[in-house]
Amino acid sequence: MRSQQDSAAGLRHLITLEGLTRDSLSSLLDTAERYRRLPGQPAYEGRELAGVTVANLFFEPSTRTRASFDLASRRLGAHVLNLDLHSSSRAKGESMLDTIYTLEAMNTDVFVIRDSEAGMPEFLIDHVAPHVSVISAGEAHVSHPTQGLLDVLTIRTHKRRFSGLKVAIVGDIKHSRVARSTATALATLGTTDLRLVAPEALLPDEAEFKGAQRFTRIEEGIAGADVIVMLRIQKERMAQAASLDDAAYFREFGLTPQRLKLATGSVLVMHPGPMNRGVEIASEVADGPRSVIREQVNNGVAVRMAVLAAIAATLTRHRRPL
Ligand code: NCD
Repeated sequence: MRSQQDSAAGLRHLITLEGLTRDSLSSLLDTAERYRRLPGQPAYEGRELAGVTVANLFFEPSTRTRASFDLASRRLGAHVLNLDLHSSSRAKGESMLDTIYTLEAMNTDVFVIRDSEAGMPEFLIDHVAPHVSVISAGEAHVSHPTQGLLDVLTIRTHKRRFSGLKVAIVGDIKHSRVARSTATALATLGTTDLRLVAPEALLPDEAEFKGAQRFTRIEEGIAGADVIVMLRIQKERMAQAASLDDAAYFREFGLTPQRLKLATGSVLVMHPGPMNRGVEIASEVADGPRSVIREQVNNGVAVRMAVLAAIAATLTRHRRPL
């Protein structure tokens, strides 16, 4: 794979958080903090992406990630293409690469891509023109780098540190690209106490999430936690999803107000969305005082602005002269 960074350590692509240093992550989070505006404040408006064209290619459903890349791009002055890919060329049999080449010919500079096929972002990095960047907005169960960044920004804002934190990820970890990217970011930033909590069948392979403790009882997994990340059951990635009973799952693994008392008093409750209330999380918890779920969404726009700005700064060095 071509590197995500150029020889001057500028960000060229972002498809995984693996391999990025603590300093690179921290600098993206610092930039995101400068772009962040609270709901009710006027949004940041800049020209960092003036003259840049960003194409959002989403081959899987998405609400918040797609909206947030769209807003992030526009707020920095980019032209944005949102393609309806269910009704476009791929449905007619055109290969992903031909779609990319077509859009490259229209001077698209940045591709934001979500796809259910593992390896697609890496494949694109190897085939796009030298002045074109690829950002993953979710790759199969493998990686979701901007979600990992927004999760650690949310944690940093409240906790001001990563070492010594107890973080529990609860739910369908096996199929979760969010869990993988968030765990990578946490490990790079210094969190060593990671707990994975799921029914046996939804825990990842032993070789993954090195150093994490595994629990099949939520009460044990979230005891004393500083941060709890709740995940949806990704039935679309399972062969026998129909046999899963939502009510039984909630009884065994749902985050209820009673269970939340087992964590620290200052625990942060997180969820990447979409949430299934009454399945993995009780509404009282999702909307309760410990929830930072909407802050995650707010941070998502800021983090995507930071990533796009970093990539645009690198891109100008690789463009063809007029
Ligand atoms: C997640 C995703 O698509 O990976 N959602 C998101 O990007 N906010 C998680 C999920 O779909 O459960």
